[in-house]
Amino acid sequence: MSASGARRAAERYLMNTYKRPPLVFTRGKGCYLWDDRGRRYLDFLGGIAVNALGHAHPRLVRVVRREAARAIHLSNLFHNPYQGPLAEKLVKWSKLDRVFFTNSGTEAIEGALKLARIYARKKTGADAPPVKTRVLALEHSFHGRTFGALAITASAKYREPYEPLMPGAEFVRFNDVADLEAKFDDTVCAIVLEPIQGEGGVFPVSEEFYSRARQLCTQRDAALIADEIQCGLGRTGRCFAYQKFGALPDIVVVAKPLAGGLPLGAILASEKFASAFAPGLHGTTFGGGPLVCAAALEFLTTVEREKLLVNVRARGEELRAGLEKLKAKFDFVKEVRGEGLIVGMELTIEGAAIAQEALKRGVIINCTHERTLRFLPPFIVTSKHVKEFLAALESVLASAARKIKAAPAAPARPATAAAGSAR
Ligand SMILES: Cc1ncc(COP(=O)(O)O)c(C=O)c1O
Repeated sequence: MSASGARRAAERYLMNTYKRPPLVFTRGKGCYLWDDRGRRYLDFLGGIAVNALGHAHPRLVRVVRREAARAIHLSNLFHNPYQGPLAEKLVKWSKLDRVFFTNSGTEAIEGALKLARIYARKKTGADAPPVKTRVLALEHSFHGRTFGALAITASAKYREPYEPLMPGAEFVRFNDVADLEAKFDDTVCAIVLEPIQGEGGVFPVSEEFYSRARQLCTQRDAALIADEIQCGLGRTGRCFAYQKFGALPDIVVVAKPLAGGLPLGAILASEKFASAFAPGLHGTTFGGGPLVCAAALEFLTTVEREKLLVNVRARGEELRAGLEKLKAKFDFVKEVRGEGLIVGMELTIEGAAIAQEALKRGVIINCTHERTLRFLPPFIVTSKHVKEFLAALESVLASAARKIKAAPAAPARPATAAAGSAR
């Protein structure tokens, strides 16, 4: 089928859950993608933080080819050659103790919530009424689309159409320690936080908030769950974003880049929490199959061997320095945030049109939280790519500035409501 035929079939037969531009990408190499007409695009979104080794990385291609010819799936009723070694590597990276493999981020979140619940339940005793069931999450959080994950996702537009969701979820104001203390009592079994919020607009959790959450969890025997699905596994230039804080979380969830683009997630936990699971209490059909685990081992080994964390830090600094220069040039750029290669640029205007214009000019980014442009390039990005990206973004922002200037003046409004006044 031709690319335009494939697009028409998608429009006719797929459920209507995504707004897509009329493009079909047919192949990728490194930091670039090509559409069916042979046009090249610089990919600074990386499949939303998934393609950390870029596209068609030769090491991943070799491993996937090799394992596809051996055994794609075996079921979790048997051992396979890669699950154990991959779990061992994740334990070394995280300093936690045990791992459970899933297929996606949201499935890892569901499992982490179940683990926190079963730990609390075992502590209070099976016969006692389950009182320690509440889960705290943060304002602007995003944890996934299944019912438990949705219940702790702050955005009402995702949550409300599906209510009632998992009961007992409550939101704490972002980085507000007093609000955390007020809401944290003995009925809380877990607090879930993204050390750097991704979908919420690239907002880092403060050291003070994290430390207090850690203290309260320890005092009240609840689980501190770090959602590192977007910000983890090297994206900040550290193995995990939480490693900038002193203390370990009890449970960590990862997914997106773990198997270099194949679907794989994981729940990592300290022995104290992990030991609450026993055979029969949790499971999955596909999670942790030999093909995906071999790819994930190759991903983590490549990050180590090619010293990609150093590259993530260095390129991230170049990227943010360039974005700061653009901020000084365009008054509708409000703030540049992030670490390593998870970077956001908040605007005082809507960002979707800017992302669309960038795509027209051959650069892939997206807009999250209405006004924040988000950049999640692969870990293999070079200084040349960063320069190419900044030049393209500058021309997109310059064209937006021209449009703003040419637009008829808005009717006079009070100063606090005027466009750009948020700065
Ligand atoms: C921080 C975070 N948690 C959870 C999820 C859900 O992951 P998935 O889409 O793999 O279910 C996402 C996805 O964007 C995410 O960014």
